[in-house]
Amino acid sequence: MDDSRETFGPNAFVTGFPVRHSRSPLIHGYWLKKLGLRGSYRPYEVAPADFAAFMGSLKDQSSQFIGGNVTIPHKEMACRLADRPDELSQELGASNTLWLAEGKLHSTNTDGQGFTANLDARHPGWDKHDTVVILGAGGASRAVIQAVRDRGFREIHVVNRTAARAQELADRFGEKVHAHPMGALAEVMKGAGLFVNTTSLGMDGETAPAIDFLPLDENAVVTDIVYVPLKTSLLKQAEEQGFVIVDGLGMLLHQAVPGFEKWFGKRPVVDDELRALIVADM
Ligand code: ATR
Repeated sequence: MDDSRETFGPNAFVTGFPVRHSRSPLIHGYWLKKLGLRGSYRPYEVAPADFAAFMGSLKDQSSQFIGGNVTIPHKEMACRLADRPDELSQELGASNTLWLAEGKLHSTNTDGQGFTANLDARHPGWDKHDTVVILGAGGASRAVIQAVRDRGFREIHVVNRTAARAQELADRFGEKVHAHPMGALAEVMKGAGLFVNTTSLGMDGETAPAIDFLPLDENAVVTDIVYVPLKTSLLKQAEEQGFVIVDGLGMLLHQAVPGFEKWFGKRPVVDDELRALIVADM
């Protein structure tokens, strides 16, 4: 092992292009300090044309890194180029977490775990329903579909502006997943116990179109993966209509837990102080 690592602890990275907006260094920096561990976690910008070489260099004996996070636009390449992508990330075709073990580069995708851990922490019992409506059919939607399917939801309705993209996901994830155009939203919401927005609607304070949440089950939970602002216009509407809402910040925080544990050897806790730190940075 590299001497500097023994002296200073493991080094981890987050790579993306660009990467300066990533809040991951704040999250991991907070945990390293809180747990009193040696090690570092730094942003490392890699252009798409250089990403394959970067992945190769991680396996080099002299690499300074033990692993790291991968964000847009490298998640698909990371999954394809890892030696040992796990089943979760192979099904998604995208990885967000890498680690080296016995000279091999392993990868997984923790977005789905982040999604369920956030709901478990904020509203236990959120999963006692059969039917979920997911708005959007991009990368985030895939991770949510996988997570709710693996959690036991039996009717997964994906509603998307471009219906063909929703259909691709229905084909990919099997018989429990149904694709719908936007026009079918009110109909598929009838009696559903969970509503998830995975689109950018409402991001950065933009007003999302009016949505009537009343067809949902009266105990339904409405959640958003957008977390800037914390209470998106979509969540505000749902709250005004009497539904339990869960914001998306916890998904970001919880998806970071498995990586930290792999690189630094201790399982960190998502606490209110960490939440406040990220909110203060928004
Ligand atoms: P991500 O990987 O973050 O999920 P993405 O792959 O760009 O991002 O997907 C964005 C999702 O938000 C898509 O479902 C997109 O709908 P289309 O497939 O029709 O493009 C959805 N989206 C973005 N802006 C939208 C808008 N103004 N109205 C409705 N859906 C929107």
